[in-house]
Amino acid sequence: MNATPDPNVPRHVAIVMDGNGRWARRRGQPRSFGHRAGQKAVREAVEFCLRRHVEALTLFAFSSENWRRPDDEVGALMELFLRALDREVEELHGNGVRVRFVGELAAFAEGIRTRMHAAMEKTRGNTALALNVCVNYGGRWDIVQAARRAALAVRNGELDAEALDEANIAPYFCLADSPPVDLLIRTGGERRISNFLLWQVAYAELYFTDTLWPDVDQAELERALEDYAGRERRFGLTGAQVARAS
Ligand code: IPE
Ligand code: IPE
Ligand code: MG
Repeated sequence: MNATPDPNVPRHVAIVMDGNGRWARRRGQPRSFGHRAGQKAVREAVEFCLRRHVEALTLFAFSSENWRRPDDEVGALMELFLRALDREVEELHGNGVRVRFVGELAAFAEGIRTRMHAAMEKTRGNTALALNVCVNYGGRWDIVQAARRAALAVRNGELDAEALDEANIAPYFCLADSPPVDLLIRTGGERRISNFLLWQVAYAELYFTDTLWPDVDQAELERALEDYAGRERRFGLTGAQVARAS
């Protein structure tokens, strides 16, 4: 982690890793082939963030809605998660990456859940990069679970309902201990959020690329960061106010 973060480098990058299916189809292969190929891009993204001292990387790996895909595709993805968990965690740990799985984990088979919890436990003390992998995650689910937990805190007398505001509900959202998302990247050409982070992207800069996820490499991520460095983040102020403050 940087003592004085470079304002041109986002502290928190979130990515909708899209386009695996189309990447495979273009090669006359089944969609699962594209998901397998996408793993290399995940490694590229982690390596990139470590090198550029990004503090947090949040990846959308499986949405609440992706369960509705054909059984064989969902099965192939689960198989892939299982194998990736066995294979990648050691290296991530060696690189000082703290891994966290974010979403409704109870829906996963026990073998996957056990490995997810073991990976989180093993890497919890690491500080080089916080890697949040969103699985069975939905932005609306996140809002509901935050509201539910806040409501329970009210019932237990830990929170005053009348005093509820943005600051004291914020800790109940997923990723509350990461900085706000600075840069949201979506690959694969679609320009939508698809129920990814909602609360957390309130002031994120958005970057869309037609590149399909398995083709993403260091150069592609570098382009996203260059684009980010050229943005003026005003947070509701005027350009003149921002210029005076910097
Ligand atoms: C993203 O790629 C990976 C997941 C949603 C799991 P897709 O599988 O959505 O690929 P396209 O969009 O069909 O090409
Ligand atoms: C979003 O991609 C989910 C992930 C990347 C995990 P989708 O491919 O599921 O999104 P839609 O269906 O095009 O909106
Ligand atoms: Mg897609």
